[in-house]
Amino acid sequence: MPTKRALEAQDKAVYTTSSGAPVAEPYAAQRVGNNGPLLLQDFSLIDSLAHFDRERIPERVVHAKGAGCHGFFEVTHDITDLSCAALFSEVGKKTPVTMRFSTVGGELGSADSARDPRGFAIKLKTEHGNLDWVFNNTPIFFIRDPAKFPHFIHTQKRDPETHLKDADPFWDYFSLNPESIHQVMILFSDRGTPYGFHHMHGYSGHTYKFVNAEGKFVYVQIHVRKEGGFKTIDNATAGKLAGENPDYGIELLHNDVAAGKFPEWKLFVQTMTPEQAEKFRYNICDLTKVWPHAEFPLRPFGKIVLNKNPENYFAEVEQVAFSPSHTVPGFEPSNDPVLQSRLFSYPDTHRHRLGTNYQQLPVNRPLVPIANFQRDGPMAFENQGTRPNYQSSLVPLTYKPKPYEQVKHETWLAAAKTDLSFITELDFEQPRALWQKVFDNTQKEHFVSNVAGHFGNVKSPEVKARQLSVFAAVDQDLSDRIAKAIGHPSVKPLSVAPAAQAIRFQYNQSA
Ligand code: HEM
Repeated sequence: MPTKRALEAQDKAVYTTSSGAPVAEPYAAQRVGNNGPLLLQDFSLIDSLAHFDRERIPERVVHAKGAGCHGFFEVTHDITDLSCAALFSEVGKKTPVTMRFSTVGGELGSADSARDPRGFAIKLKTEHGNLDWVFNNTPIFFIRDPAKFPHFIHTQKRDPETHLKDADPFWDYFSLNPESIHQVMILFSDRGTPYGFHHMHGYSGHTYKFVNAEGKFVYVQIHVRKEGGFKTIDNATAGKLAGENPDYGIELLHNDVAAGKFPEWKLFVQTMTPEQAEKFRYNICDLTKVWPHAEFPLRPFGKIVLNKNPENYFAEVEQVAFSPSHTVPGFEPSNDPVLQSRLFSYPDTHRHRLGTNYQQLPVNRPLVPIANFQRDGPMAFENQGTRPNYQSSLVPLTYKPKPYEQVKHETWLAAAKTDLSFITELDFEQPRALWQKVFDNTQKEHFVSNVAGHFGNVKSPEVKARQLSVFAAVDQDLSDRIAKAIGHPSVKPLSVAPAAQAIRFQYNQSA
């Protein structure tokens, strides 16, 4: 059934070919006589078939399934001491946003209730260009070495031989890369099956930088907290929904917004000075760690409200293209190597998925005029008219430096290579706190049964024993409970280096 909006919008449009010519009868293919061959001159038919043949574009290599919506960001508290980004310039200022929520591993038609992290991407159209916050619904991630990303994702997707999802590579990867354990703990808790798409929090995960007009910066983590809390469903409900209504997340969001029940989030920032970062127990460029709230409190600064459903899913959700490299003065990436790799990877995949001129698509086009030396390519709708296509002295462009252009920031000094691959006791502290202090008895039970239901399918005895040793390094009781649930003997903890051997964050501000 068309939505109320679609019914009301009936415009009695005249049917035409793509070149605009009216055609009386779209179904009547031109042919010779009653049973003769078709005529090549029938542009209406050929136009229609040829366009249909080309309807599909590649789905996103990850995060293929998702729901999107439009709304606004509003500044609720002054943070101009932290960032000179134009969108934060005054309390009450509103910026249009487009958000897309997604699962990660499944294909375009997969179930919204799958056990998976959720993508939580926000495009803010500011007066200084687009700022994309390409976040997840978890404050941490599986990796801290970007080279592992394709390996990790391949193990969560289909087996190259059988085209089946397979528990052995899935757990083989986790057992060989124990820095993933913190995120595994969240994934197999009920947070791994959020209720729909718009009842969850979002987190920057990575450390970013806020820079103020004087060029002074602080490291930040951004938290986008859902009004009404983070709602989850249990494993059994998720499984039932996957069969009965795999698109329930898209449907819930659409129906709530159509009914005027607009989802709202409050935004907070945790800040850390470079000096604090050097003393911090964990490396701030290690994406597998959180910043404790007690030490680095949440400071409120804004809210997001989603109040407008897309009018066309493909144009406004499938074609939206987020990238952490779409940023604005006042908001900068940190040296986190995973983040740095993402700065490359997203525009690269967009050029493949949507084409060279993906920024010109209406949903991606910045609100501000674009002026540069990029020209032509497929579908160049905004080709900048008569403007010279080189840096011309005859018709020069105006150049606007960032307020802090001359201020030098930081130089990475730590031995990143060692740091990324080296597992120490530090890697187990936060997952242990989750198990021992955060999960209550019910959450513990759900966790053990969620893991056992999936991990119990592993066939390789080596993978089973190795992953149990990773769980035992978090907590022996946790590992023993999972072992018991899958009928495996108890396994001793993985042996890891002491915390003192971890490489700490260092920077050199004057460099
Ligand atoms: C989507 C790469 C880590 C959040 C994607 C896509 C790629 C990608 C290629 C598909 C984009 C598209 O076709 O539109 C990577 C790489 C990573 C990484 C190479 C690490 C080296 C992360 C992390 C987060 C994240 C750590 C969150 C903190 C997202 C989100 C989307 C996405 C939210 C979906 C965006 C949308 O809704 O269109 N990623 N990713 N990714 N990624 Fe990542």
